[in-house]
Amino acid sequence: MARRKKIYEGKAKILYEGPEPGTLVQYFKDDATAFNAEKKDVIEGKGVLNNRLSEYFMTGLNNIGVPTHFIKRINMREQLVRAVEIIPLEVVVRNVAAGSISKRLGIDEGTPLPRPIVEFYYKDDALGDPMVTEEHIIAFGWAAQQDLDDIVALALRVNDFLSGIMMGVGIKLIDFKIEIGRIWDGDYMRLVVADEISPDSCRLWDVQTGQKLDKDVFRRDLGNLADAYTEVARRLGVLPQNGAPLGKPTLIN
Ligand code: TMP
Repeated sequence: MARRKKIYEGKAKILYEGPEPGTLVQYFKDDATAFNAEKKDVIEGKGVLNNRLSEYFMTGLNNIGVPTHFIKRINMREQLVRAVEIIPLEVVVRNVAAGSISKRLGIDEGTPLPRPIVEFYYKDDALGDPMVTEEHIIAFGWAAQQDLDDIVALALRVNDFLSGIMMGVGIKLIDFKIEIGRIWDGDYMRLVVADEISPDSCRLWDVQTGQKLDKDVFRRDLGNLADAYTEVARRLGVLPQNGAPLGKPTLIN
């Protein structure tokens, strides 16, 4: 079989050319990094869990009419996605103070925020993904005002959806990061949720105990990362009790 063309390799995923024009294959690695890859490890099984969990969240979003790049899962580690033009922003939504906002503004971790706060970071590893404002984004042409209004609306819909799903299984969604892509149909442009949604890019705390079930387990050396992600997957019914993956969820549209 001809080797597939690698389009891009990031810290946790690889993108290969897809089977049809306008598609890509997204491969989930077991690599875990934190602090802009200063801390690195290989967590066996993480890629399989994130592939399943991202499929679960993206399928749910597609089903409620929030467009995403996700088409279908192909196997344990790969999914077929729409090729998009990634907007070079990390869009973070916070419900409860934790991580960088706690550090920057001196707010105790765990303090509920008065309303969900949306922040933008410029995707540039060499610069350490600095926080930017709408002024920077528009001035430097990364997105237009209309795009930003649409991105904030999308991010808040994702927040409501994920918060509800997680609360249903006893997990509080503290914050998360998404990336947005553009898809062109001739002159018409659509914004879609791209990249991944997984415990790598969320903070998830058990409602009862406050136990962390996300990448902070790795960042802060709090225990076994794969166990934490397996617990999230198990509660969502993405894995049955014995840990073997279930059949794929149905995509309605
Ligand atoms: P922060 O508190 O470090 O700014 O992170 C906010 C959220 O964004 C948290 O859920 C983790 C996620 N995140 C990423 O997905 N990638 C990153 O590179 C960083 C810094 C955070």
